[in-house]
Formats: sequence, C-alpha cells, structure tokens
Amino acid sequence: MTTTIRDIRPDDEAAWRVLWQGYTTFYGSDIPEQVTRHTWQRALDPAAPFGIRLAVFNEQVAGFSLYVLHEGSWVTTPVCYLEDLFVDPAVRGQGLGQALIEDLIHLAEQNNWSRLYWHTREGNPARALYDKFTQADDYVRYRLAIGTNT
Ligand SMILES: CC(C)(COP(=O)(O)OP(=O)(O)OC[C@H]1O[C@@H](n2cnc3c(N)ncnc32)[C@H](O)[C@@H]1OP(=O)(O)O)[C@@H](O)C(=O)NCCC(=O)NCCS
Repeated sequence: MTTTIRDIRPDDEAAWRVLWQGYTTFYGSDIPEQVTRHTWQRALDPAAPFGIRLAVFNEQVAGFSLYVLHEGSWVTTPVCYLEDLFVDPAVRGQGLGQALIEDLIHLAEQNNWSRLYWHTREGNPARALYDKFTQADDYVRYRLAIGTNT
C-alpha cells in the first residue's frame, strides 16, 4: 500500500473530475461545467496562485487537495488557504486525508508560506482529523453572494 502526493497533470483530468463530482455532491452543490473547467485549467497554470495536489494510492488517483495562495496584511510571504479536500470513500481511513494536509505543510515550509488555514462545517466528522493538527479557533464566517455567483 503506497501513497504518493503530487501535482496534477493534464492527463489526470478524468480521474480528478470523478473525485470533484463526489466532493460537490457531498456538499450538495451542483457546480456548473464552466466553473469546473475553469477551476481545472487555472489549477494547471503554474502562474496561477492556485493548485491541486493528488493522492495516488496503489497507483490510483484517490484524493485531492485544492489550495489558494494569497497575500496577507500581517505577513510578508503568501498565506495558503486549503479550500477543498476529498478522499474516495472506498479508501478512507487509511491516512490519505492526513497525507494531503501534511503535504501542504511541507510545501508551505519549502516555499516559505506564512500560514496554512481552512474552514469546515462545525459538525463535519473530518474535524477529528483536523484536531490532530491544531485546535480550531473561535472565528466565524460571514459570506455574501454577489450577483449570480455563489
Ligand atoms: C475528510 C476526508 C478527506 C478524510 O480523508 P481520510 O483519508 O479518510 O482521512 P485519514 O485516513 O487521513 O484520517 C482519518 C481520521 O480522520 C477522522 N475522520 C476523517 N473523516 C472522517 C469521517 N468522515 N468520519 C469519521 N472520522 C473521520 C478519523 O478520526 C480518522 O482518524 P483515525 O484513523 O485515527 O480513526 C474524507 O473523510 C472526505 O473526503 N470526507 C468528505 C469530504 C470532506 O468532508 N472534506 C473536508 C471538507 S472541509
């Protein structure tokens, strides 16, 4: 049983789309095709502050993280936001989710990013995994949809 974490390649699109579908279904969202296409193309662009890392388990693409880099007013190097995390339900509980987060921590250390952070729903069972890394703080989120965007 081997797990490798790596950047996406163009030929990963079909496998990633299966996971993406699982993820958006998990959240009850129906993401328009044009948004999925845009997300994939942006993530492949090395100039975009945006990336997808894949967990390959026994040579199968089995999970992904999607991260966004942005500047911050309290730091001098990029901040990394972990926006999406998903593991194929068939292989959960075998350390892939943890490996995907550890991979981003390693990337942050290598690239001198200032911070890694993420949000989740209060009742998400994934918090048992997140609590292994750090304690949740007491910030809450306010979110306004602009125009027809979600
Ligand atoms: C969260 C997720 C990525 C974790 O992937 P995973 O490969 O199963 O995670 P790991 O095997 O590394 O870690 C599992 C640990 O996390 C906890 N955990 C994670 N997800 C859990 C779940 N759905 N139910 C119960 N426990 C869960 C367990 O405590 C487990 O710890 P243990 O092995 O010591 O018992 C996966 O459950 C998933 O894709 N969930 C649906 C999407 C989601 O919630 N994404 C995160 C959005 S913020």
